[in-house]
Amino acid sequence: AKIKFIEFSGKEHDVEIANGTSIMQAALDENVRGIVGDCGGSCSCATCHIYVDESWLDKIEVKSEMEEILLEEVCDPQDNSRLSCQIIVSDALDGMVLRVPEKQF
Ligand code: FES
Repeated sequence: AKIKFIEFSGKEHDVEIANGTSIMQAALDENVRGIVGDCGGSCSCATCHIYVDESWLDKIEVKSEMEEILLEEVCDPQDNSRLSCQIIVSDALDGMVLRVPEKQF
């Protein structure tokens, strides 16, 4: 699926991502600035926080309790905050737009 990352600086990355890849991993592979992914995607570091364009929120899988708690404790989340390691790319996400926060916590 084709996904657009917008860095805090405004720099855009249009990336073709294989189904089954996490957004966090794809961002690292593409050197998207601002995504760290310290824990390697096990939903325990919250350094992969990202803002999902509102129109896509209902197309991605709902948050696990673990993700919800981490976001609340660490990220000062907005309604469209997600941990990008918990979003797995599929055809349904083709065209999704993601904004990277200024910094991870
Ligand atoms: Fe650590 Fe997502 S990479 S929570």
